[in-house]
Amino acid sequence: MSLDKVLLVAGARPNFMKVAPIIDCLDERGIKAVLVHTGQHYDPLMSDVIFADLGLRIPDHHLGIGSGSHAVQTARIMEAFEPVLLAEQPDVVVVVGDVNSTLACALVAAKLGVKVAHVEAGLRSRDWTMPEEVNRVVTDRVSDFLFAPSADAVDNLRQEGYPDDRIHLVGNVMVDTLLKHVALARTRPILGDLGLVSKGYGLVTLHRPSNVDDPLMLSSLLAALGEISQHIPLLYPAHPRTRGALATLPIPPGLTVSSPFGYLDFLALQAHALLVLTDSGGIQEETTALGVPCLTLRETTERPITITEGTNVLVGRRKARIVKAALACLRTKTQQRTPALWDGNAAPRIVRTLSSDNQSGQAQSMV
Ligand code: UD1
Repeated sequence: MSLDKVLLVAGARPNFMKVAPIIDCLDERGIKAVLVHTGQHYDPLMSDVIFADLGLRIPDHHLGIGSGSHAVQTARIMEAFEPVLLAEQPDVVVVVGDVNSTLACALVAAKLGVKVAHVEAGLRSRDWTMPEEVNRVVTDRVSDFLFAPSADAVDNLRQEGYPDDRIHLVGNVMVDTLLKHVALARTRPILGDLGLVSKGYGLVTLHRPSNVDDPLMLSSLLAALGEISQHIPLLYPAHPRTRGALATLPIPPGLTVSSPFGYLDFLALQAHALLVLTDSGGIQEETTALGVPCLTLRETTERPITITEGTNVLVGRRKARIVKAALACLRTKTQQRTPALWDGNAAPRIVRTLSSDNQSGQAQSMV
């Protein structure tokens, strides 16, 4: 495949830091990169601020889709993306992660016979009630290039019967972006602005429907956070969907709920935190890359590598277990370990593979 034009899709907050290093790499090699923003996330704090922090170009196409049920959002993206793809005629469409924009654009491209590359292929939580799990499995199924971030993802794809020549272990693009920006992030004045000191607070992000949409579950999680905050102050930058749910519940005194932060400030807040409590996928990875202890308040994770080779502990949603694990983090020092190929060079491996269309290669690391 000659590689002259690559179309990249980004729609939701965690997509932006994944497309950024791939675009940089394409620019360096003089390959045309077309960026499509679906508009799945549209609040300035969920999109524009992150674009500015990452130095991401203004999207070539903004589909302006916005919120809706899963079916409505996915269908609207598909409808709006099809004419863009027909007009642009790229050699390949790159989709990243597991959000509705990822699935919608992968389906459109596959049906138009355009090659699809999935960055972050092979991750599996095996929890079919997670919308992201459906998105991951279906996106992989229609993709020509499966770019896996870690060896466990390669194993999952092999077990599902994908041939080795479609699987490429390239590492983690989110870590490319983190390593590029972390030194600058550490110089941000955000800690002082918030009255926090390095390693003197915990950082919380919870936004999964399974954790925040049910008031009973959210109350129980808040109770756990309340107990932890008696030992260390907690900062909770809340996703817009969570702000509404939190507004109706009492917030424990040691827990500060804030608006979301931009990429650099949030990276600074992660790097300086004593511990992070989350249900996010990307934050499990970023804390591993930073060597910061992470407690994941879920029953499953699609990123087990962050447990076996990182700083993540899957603690579930029971109050006693969350509090016990958090207090243990306050007492013990976590060792930093980083999975293979999480070295800042995942995007060059992806672009090299696409350029050479190395379909005869084995599912091996692209060092
Ligand atoms: C999406 C992803 C999730 C990812 C998360 C990161 C899917 C299925 N889910 O979840 O995997 O972890 O992004 O943030 O794609 N809203 C706003 N402003 C915005 C965006 C959303 O107010 O800019 C509110 C709206 O009420 C909306 C709700 O958040 O209905 C949910 O947004 P949606 O894009 O459907 O899913 P997320 O929860 O953001």
